[in-house]
Amino acid sequence: MNILVTGGAGYIGSHTCFEMLQENYNIIVYDNLSNSSLEALKRVEKLTGKKIEFIEGDLLDIEKLEEVFQNEKFDAVIHFAGLKAVGESVQKPLKYYDNNVTGTLNLLKLMQNHNVKELVFSSSATVYGVPKELPLTESSPRSTTNPYGTSKLVIEYILEDLAKSDPEWKIISLRYFNPIGAHKSGEIGEDPNGIPNNLLPYISQVAVKLRKNVNVFGNDYDTKDGTGVRDYIHVVDLAMGHVFALKYLKDSQEQGFIPINLGTGNGYSVLEMIKAFEKASKTIIPYQIVERRDGDIAECYADPICAYNKLGWKAQNSLEDMCQDAWNWQKNNPTGYNKK
Ligand code: NAD
Ligand code: UD1
Repeated sequence: MNILVTGGAGYIGSHTCFEMLQENYNIIVYDNLSNSSLEALKRVEKLTGKKIEFIEGDLLDIEKLEEVFQNEKFDAVIHFAGLKAVGESVQKPLKYYDNNVTGTLNLLKLMQNHNVKELVFSSSATVYGVPKELPLTESSPRSTTNPYGTSKLVIEYILEDLAKSDPEWKIISLRYFNPIGAHKSGEIGEDPNGIPNNLLPYISQVAVKLRKNVNVFGNDYDTKDGTGVRDYIHVVDLAMGHVFALKYLKDSQEQGFIPINLGTGNGYSVLEMIKAFEKASKTIIPYQIVERRDGDIAECYADPICAYNKLGWKAQNSLEDMCQDAWNWQKNNPTGYNKK
């Protein structure tokens, strides 16, 4: 099976490429490397002993993308490519809508023209906005709180309309909760640019003493210990979710737009995450309580049963595994891919 993977050099994409190569998929990655390094894919090739065809290109460059579709016949597309920094999206909404929405439209038009109608899309729990009920199910109400989230929700609406217009489309929208951790080898992992926005990369950088202490954004939420609660999921479990989704697209009769949560169903607080990371890394993580972060929600976790019922997928890794593997990556690559 020939699969086009947009954004395949990124954090989740590189881990998914690893798992897909293990299952003998043929992979063509299309990525502009705006937030990733080719080194990630080189390491995936080394770990698996298999080749990935890489094309450096932008989804906004529709001529280059057209060439890719003319040169290859794809069975399906996994679409990771997108910008994901919430804060930046508030500052530069047009950049986010252009890259994420226009980029996806370009991809969809070419898929339609070339009769490729199976897609796995990287959506996010962000499409549930401020949760009105917990756990979140696929039919929980959707809303957004920032342009990044809105770009994901708009894409979901586009995908729903497309699927309604032509029943041949099979589109799985995977709504990721909070991916963390790294491959067991310690060779591939998350390599954020600049100061990390997300909790786990920040904790990891404090553990290797790149940063002094973790700022805990508020301890007065209505949660178990007052700090924010999230559904953290091991990136390898998430990657496996894509392999299961591809199999479902091939084997099942279900057509249309199929939203599926990828989470564990467990919620952990910021303080629990710091404690778990301290245990895994055998380091002390200094922290201080600061103001709440604008736009943050108190609590968010998935009902993951749909993924099990439809795909047969269930997260396998524990919180200890997630922290252990994140630490293993961070201590082997304290400054990421290029600066090792
Ligand atoms: P990432 O930034 O590591 O990977 C995204 C990849 O897409 C990068 O390699 C980047 O260079 C590429 N890219 C971006 N715009 C492009 C364009 N116009 N043309 C070609 N390539 C482009 O991010 P990630 O964490 O691996 O996330 C992958 C996807 O999952 C994104 O769509 C993101 O919004 C979504 N998602 C991520 C998270 C998370 O916490 N990491 C959570 C929910 C959803
Ligand atoms: C953030 C995004 C969300 C995106 C998700 C991807 C915001 C407002 N939301 O979600 O749209 O889909 O990443 O993973 O940015 N925290 C600290 N100190 C830190 C960093 C985080 O206390 O330095 C806390 C946060 O307040 C939150 C928890 O840790 O309670 C997790 O934060 P983060 O990793 O940024 O993820 P989300 O807020 O869930």
